[in-house]
Amino acid sequence: MKNYENLLFDVKDGIGTLTINRPKSLNALNSDTLREIGETLNEVKDNTDVKVLVITGSGQKAFVAGADISQMVSMNPIEAAALSELAHKAFHTIQELPQITIAAVNGYCLGGGFELANSCDIRVAAATAKFGQPEVGLGIVPGFGGTQRLTRLVGRGKAKEIIATGAQITAQEAKEIGAVEEVVELDDLMTKVDEIAHKIMKNGPVAVRMAKYVIDKGADLDLDTGIAFETQMWAQTFATEDQKEGMTAFLEKHGAKFNGK
Ligand code: CAA
Repeated sequence: MKNYENLLFDVKDGIGTLTINRPKSLNALNSDTLREIGETLNEVKDNTDVKVLVITGSGQKAFVAGADISQMVSMNPIEAAALSELAHKAFHTIQELPQITIAAVNGYCLGGGFELANSCDIRVAAATAKFGQPEVGLGIVPGFGGTQRLTRLVGRGKAKEIIATGAQITAQEAKEIGAVEEVVELDDLMTKVDEIAHKIMKNGPVAVRMAKYVIDKGADLDLDTGIAFETQMWAQTFATEDQKEGMTAFLEKHGAKFNGK
């Protein structure tokens, strides 16, 4: 893996951890950082050593406090569109990764940070983390997917309340509206994330990958089409060695040893 200027990446025991590393500006996302995130994700996509990807921020204060305001202040609309495209491309890649992605939200999760977290599959937050889309206070609208992914997660009313007020909400409030799955003490954050990652990695890899795919692709379909799609994917799992292994191991009363085929 190459060394990056604005992020850290390592892989240990099947878990890839991408840490946004600009603590002096609360891990704000500038174009270089978004480019580096994109490059890392392209490597992760084909890296079979990475079974689960964790995205977090360095330091104890921020996950990501948004897009970099010092870079955006003098931008014209064409430059703004290019920045937004860069983020959309990276966040789309996160969503399409075969691996399950977990946002470990260790602090401020604002603007582009909330949008980054919402492009992950699962969000685990420290109790001290704060969430919000403060863009309207800067005279802009969310531009890294906030009007779309947040709305799909929490519904139109809550998304409009969060975006139009620009107010911060606590991790617990974010959990209550479905924008966060788990809230733990800051000191326990990575242990909790690790625990979830290991539970995921114990299961059949093809099935986990397919479950993510069916949920995401099915979410934009009508129910009957989604159910038909699920049936096709379900049937396909019966062509895998993992299905034979999983069911045989159950009947023989021992743990399954999946090979991901
Ligand atoms: N961009 C650039 N720099 C940022 C930043 C950001 N989004 N957020 C924080 N920083 C910088 C601050 O300018 C400050 O730098 P200096 O030390 O050089 O002055 C440093 O990080 C520490 O920040 P504060 O001194 O402000 O820390 P605080 O504890 O007083 O406040 C905070 C923390 C509430 C998170 C505050 O920093 C803040 O409100 N940040 C901006 C949040 C924001 O508006 N995010 C949305 C950006 S727009 C966006 O994301 C658009 C989109 O849809 C993609």
